[in-house]
Amino acid sequence: MIHYKELGLVNSKELFQNAVKGGYAIPAFNFNNLEQMQAIISACVETKSPVILQVSKGARKYANQTLLQYLAKGAVEYAKELGCAIPIVLHLDHGDSLETVKSCIESGFSSVMFDGSHFPYEENVRLTKEVVEYAHKYDVTVEGELGVLAGIEDDVVAEHSSYTRPEEVEDFVKRTGVDSLAISIGTSHGAFKFKVQPGELPPPLKFDILEECEKRIPGFPIVLHGASSVPQDIVADINKYGGKMEGTAGVSEDQLRRAAGSAVCKINIDSDGRLAMTAAIRKVFIEKPGEFDPRNYLGPARDKLKELYKHKIINVLGSANRV
Ligand code: G3H
Ligand code: 13P
Ligand code: ZN
Repeated sequence: MIHYKELGLVNSKELFQNAVKGGYAIPAFNFNNLEQMQAIISACVETKSPVILQVSKGARKYANQTLLQYLAKGAVEYAKELGCAIPIVLHLDHGDSLETVKSCIESGFSSVMFDGSHFPYEENVRLTKEVVEYAHKYDVTVEGELGVLAGIEDDVVAEHSSYTRPEEVEDFVKRTGVDSLAISIGTSHGAFKFKVQPGELPPPLKFDILEECEKRIPGFPIVLHGASSVPQDIVADINKYGGKMEGTAGVSEDQLRRAAGSAVCKINIDSDGRLAMTAAIRKVFIEKPGEFDPRNYLGPARDKLKELYKHKIINVLGSANRV
């Protein structure tokens, strides 16, 4: 067992308190490899933003738990080397069992999500409470979820969303003891969130549900999953360089900016980063068909990713200069 404090990580408690008070959201960026980690840390150091490094079940399988642990420790040192010791949380994204949670906590995670949103309400309460009781013994913070998002997360595809029922949030938070709550207000996982015609806007978020939730749990940290915006310039580049992604749109950045000003204090972005890397790699392959050194396509992908993250931090989440 290695405790997260030994790796120089923090849990999310204080970060969320500050974010709710300050009217901004902490970026929660997923990572699976070195280049993504480098892009996240350098973007956050340059903008002086706290950060949540998220690891999905798929990422654990892809990257190996031991390597992830050392990458996270490396991230703490790397940030210092770049000139700013930003607070870094290592978070399990969409945890699906107490076993997974235990194994993550044992290898240095400082925060975990238990996603019981697909279970009936009472089952979600019971399982989430079990996770909280275990995690809190190690001072690890826990995110729960109420309501189901549409889209793809890990291997699960949900055709339809069901919005969070505000009348449940107070009871859920009280009975489980979670430290933050993910809610469903119209965001959705993946790069194919909304089908739109050219020039058509994606549907707005359900701010009425968010406000109802806030009324019932004032000041309590709220989380938005599925918050990628599927930037149209990046999609256009992907298509220009031989890709095929048509008629797709994400959550508008204006809507996210508005949400970040409320009790929403953690915003999850993964798909936009995937799109940015894909666009950059495709460009190299089309423009330089003889290229075969991974550093010469992963390098540009990393640069594009860093630029995207800085934009999110400065212009969408408002977490710049909060360290
Ligand atoms: O919510 C899901 C995240 O985007 C992680 O996706 O399971 O493909 O790593 P993944
Ligand atoms: P996106 O697919 O919108 O990037 O959402 C990521 C997410 O919610 C990770 O938990
Ligand atoms: Zn998610």
